[in-house]
Amino acid sequence: MSTDGSREPVGVIGTGYVGLVTAAGFAALGSEVYCVDIDEDKIRGLEEGRIPIWEPGLEELIAVHRERLHFSTDLAPALAHARVLFVAVGTPPTYSGDADLSAVHAVVDAMPASDRHALVMKSTVPVGTGESIERALAQQDKGFAYVSCPEFLKEGSAVQDFLEPDRVVIGEDGGWAGDAVEALYAPLGAPIVRTDVKSAEMVKLASNAFLATKISFINEIANVCEETGADVVEVARGMGLDDRIGPKFLQAGIGFGGSCFPKDVAALKQLAGNSGYHFQLLNSVIEVNELQKRRVIAKLQKHLGSLVGKEIALLGLAFKANTDDMREASSLVLSARLQGAGARVRAYDPVAEAEARKLISGVAFASSAAEAVAGADAIVLVTEWPEFRELDLAEVAAAMRGSLLVDGRNFLDPGAARAAGLVYEAIGRPSQSPSPVSAG
Ligand code: UDX
Repeated sequence: MSTDGSREPVGVIGTGYVGLVTAAGFAALGSEVYCVDIDEDKIRGLEEGRIPIWEPGLEELIAVHRERLHFSTDLAPALAHARVLFVAVGTPPTYSGDADLSAVHAVVDAMPASDRHALVMKSTVPVGTGESIERALAQQDKGFAYVSCPEFLKEGSAVQDFLEPDRVVIGEDGGWAGDAVEALYAPLGAPIVRTDVKSAEMVKLASNAFLATKISFINEIANVCEETGADVVEVARGMGLDDRIGPKFLQAGIGFGGSCFPKDVAALKQLAGNSGYHFQLLNSVIEVNELQKRRVIAKLQKHLGSLVGKEIALLGLAFKANTDDMREASSLVLSARLQGAGARVRAYDPVAEAEARKLISGVAFASSAAEAVAGADAIVLVTEWPEFRELDLAEVAAAMRGSLLVDGRNFLDPGAARAAGLVYEAIGRPSQSPSPVSAG
């Protein structure tokens, strides 16, 4: 890895989670990085060392390479110093499920004419976006090169994912820019996939849709396990050792959330539909995921009967551990459904409370797991935060009014929970309720 300053400088447009991790990563590889964002508060904060997102290792990486990171609301410094400009602006879903590309188009429109620069698309966009941007750039005589270089960063391990990618995908239709992007990533030693723009765009959507499908698949297996007495954790272990299947993304739970999977699955489905193809499988992936979030309610009702007036404690709110991101978190649906059923909901999350407060209403926030569970009729473990494994379950059982623990992530040890006096329910694992089936 070169740190002698001789590496290609880069611009990064958009300082959200993808943009900041990308910027910090290239700074760590030795590039001068010119970050641009239209949000003045965010840029001021970054200049003062305030990182707007909670991502393990990011603050430290930015601090270490601070002298190579430059922040501005103005495009000029990036254009003056860098010929490769990564675009990492938001592409949120619209009502129809299509991606909203207005921020991407705003970036394209803001570019001056130049045959020296390249736009490198990191934002997730529908297949065909690159082609239409290239057309717009040509029509406006802007002369920019265009590269699709999708990001595969996972929240919570984004820094590591940048530095140790499984692959780097570079889509371009000829010219100098693909080689320049490949040279930027070369020190990481990852397999590089050079391809055309449309295929690169599709690699991103298809990868996320496939992983989401894997999760909905194992969640359906879990639901069948509940009917048949099999244990989905054992089933996933047995399946995952098959090299063709692999062990990852086979954890049954309360459904996937986050900023990517729900959006990208909807976008791919919509993209297919817009071109006249009905992507049946993705409809099911989405539907299974929606139902999965709600199955917890039935588990609670099975033990508690009516939920009216019941005190339910949610442990964790973020869409997964190691992030404060609440986008599409299953806890949003769960807390709303619980309140709809008449329950009183209290919640504790070690880092996501501030984000959760913006999106959830009617929930009492606790400042510790112990405070959340005290006097509760039931607990639902929503997010697999490591600290929940450290809980003294006997103390938890003693502090509760009831004794039901629904483990929405199959995260805790069923034997230990039951030994502590809790009624333990999980996802796709043998249930504790008195079995109506007699052996014979
Ligand atoms: C995802 C992709 O993994 C990443 O490559 C992409 O660029 C951005 O989207 P992220 O959203 O950060 O990353 O989270 P990820 O770790 O992939 O988990 C997504 C959701 O699936 C979470 O809600 C998680 O809890 C859930 N999940 C994951 C499961 O329910 N079971 C699993 O086995 C794995």
